Amino acid sequence: MSETLANLLQENRRFEPPAALAEAANVKADAYTEADADRLEFWATQARRLDWTKPWDRILDWDNPPFAKWFVGGELNVAYNCLDRHVAAGNGDKVAIHWEGEPGDTRTLTYADLHKLTCQAANALTDLGVRAGDRVAIYLPMIPEAAVAMLACARIGATHSVVFGGFSVDALAGRIQDASAKVVITADGGYRRGKPSALKPTVDEAVAQSPTIEHVLVVRRTGEDVAWSDKDHWWHETVETAGEQHEAQPFDAEHPLFILYTSGTTAKPKGILHTTGGYLTQASYTQHAVFDLKPETDVYWCTADIGWVTGHSYIVYGPLSNGATQVMYEGTPDTPHKGRFWDIVDKYGVTILYTAPTLIRTMMKWGDEFPAAANLSSLRVLGSVGEPINPEAWMWYRKNIGHDNTPVVDTWWQTETGAIMISPLPGVTATKPGSAMRPLPGISADVVDDEGNSVPNGGGGFLVLREPWPSMLRTIWGDDQRFVDTYWSRFQGMYFAGDGAKKDDDGDLWLLGRVDDVMLVSGHNISTTEVESALVSHPSVAEAAVVGATDPTTGQAIVAFTIPRGSVDSEGDAGEALIKELRDHVAKTLGPIAKPRQIMLVPELPKTRSGKIMRRLLRDVAERRSLGDVTTLQDSTVMDLISDGMKSAKSDDE
Ligand code: WT7
Repeated sequence: MSETLANLLQENRRFEPPAALAEAANVKADAYTEADADRLEFWATQARRLDWTKPWDRILDWDNPPFAKWFVGGELNVAYNCLDRHVAAGNGDKVAIHWEGEPGDTRTLTYADLHKLTCQAANALTDLGVRAGDRVAIYLPMIPEAAVAMLACARIGATHSVVFGGFSVDALAGRIQDASAKVVITADGGYRRGKPSALKPTVDEAVAQSPTIEHVLVVRRTGEDVAWSDKDHWWHETVETAGEQHEAQPFDAEHPLFILYTSGTTAKPKGILHTTGGYLTQASYTQHAVFDLKPETDVYWCTADIGWVTGHSYIVYGPLSNGATQVMYEGTPDTPHKGRFWDIVDKYGVTILYTAPTLIRTMMKWGDEFPAAANLSSLRVLGSVGEPINPEAWMWYRKNIGHDNTPVVDTWWQTETGAIMISPLPGVTATKPGSAMRPLPGISADVVDDEGNSVPNGGGGFLVLREPWPSMLRTIWGDDQRFVDTYWSRFQGMYFAGDGAKKDDDGDLWLLGRVDDVMLVSGHNISTTEVESALVSHPSVAEAAVVGATDPTTGQAIVAFTIPRGSVDSEGDAGEALIKELRDHVAKTLGPIAKPRQIMLVPELPKTRSGKIMRRLLRDVAERRSLGDVTTLQDSTVMDLISDGMKSAKSDDE
């Protein structure tokens, strides 16, 4: 029998939801029963959590797959749902955003403040000639104006395309041109690592290559000198002087809300298109269900950047549609010191924290003393997103951040899915460290083999989605064929996510990384994630990245790049001994088939700006190193190879 993806890692730890949280949870176990009984009616119920100016005629039109229409004929305004209705309900004075700049400056914006600014920005954009259906590029640091800019676009029906502020001129210009954007909203710069980091010069260069841009709106954040052209307008002279009255117009449920480009590692970035009613329904419901968000009492903080889909769905649309109070932070986690995040949790009394495994592993590497120095007792739900979370990183998160009694929700989703798809529910699910557990109510996820047959419990294969969901991408901007080819052609009638996954003996789901990264070792398909998790389960290891390199005997061989924990002696002979111990540890944990051929000890790993490991680059390095080499921390040649690779990758998006 040929395995699709080996199932090597066993995990037996379980954590029941805390009784008090379960008792008071927003969503209980009956949600699954309800959704199983009538999936579409379940989503209609969630859509009714929003205010619609015109009800829909039909919940789902799936007559022409894979082109879906949700809540057909319905009309609503996204900004109205995120702002006006909370003000109208008497919550205008409630804090929407506690903003903290990297230098330590702060701003507090109530729902009334955010509403006023958004109305002004909507009027200013209208004055600049922006109309419903036009595209607006947003290239901003993590300042409240980023949320305002997005909401102002939504309010007037303009489609926003947020471009991450760390991206290059080429990446920005490519995205502006692909969407034929009319306006760019940017800033002079933002603060990163203790100093101003300019944005405007990048925009100037990108705009020079982009004839569709008519106007550039510039927020003054750092006060540094900027070049100025007749297309440029200061935000404070344009938006902040505009009229404060603006009536939100309703838009069709399928009106394009935003485009967000995913950086394909090789090909041209894909402009993922999301629309209005279905997107907001699922972003809003999942915020309520997965984080158990109580708008009256919780203080929520998502550490993502607005440039990623996590920032769209879980900083802007999810929290604000629910009337949440949240923290927004501008800068890096180690400025001015490695405890900055925990100081912020302490200062604002954050109750729900949503962050990424890369950050959790970095914090593990820095050491337990940083979280221990802050009061984290306010936290009650912890979330993770972006990559598979290794069981030991999950345990570290729960123990050191969640004082050993806080549920950890590992949430699987993608830019394409728009909102969370697979996750525990904090008041219902008994979690397992490293597992995203079950599809949410109303979501049909499965793991299939090469032929598209559902694998039995204990089996591994490809993650698919069998039924359409409200916040699904509608197409790739300007390229329906690529949309069909990329996501809907691998398996008949199913959405192909591109991730490997397995079902454990209970049928719970474990994500195993991108299928492109799977290693073929002596005829066995082994996931990089499982070998990485085995390495991270050794007490001397903080982080690990694993790739397959060509091998004359086994086809591919496993090569691991490993960062030792801060306190571990890994120089010279001690390093060689550690490498031997780690190879044996993996063989013992996963079986001899998974024993790495080579382990290199490194101080850093190459990552994209969204924190994902650049495995393509590591594969190149692994291929170029000869077999016999032992690489301990004293040996800098591997790091030289990595940084050369990073330099040549710099002109790419990531
Ligand atoms: C890819 C999507 C979803 C917002 C941020 C990333 C990986 C995401 C998990 C998770 C294992 C995960 C997958 C997915 N991923 N969350 N909880 N466990 N893997 O969005 O940049 O579109 O990336 O991130 O590989 O396909 P994205």
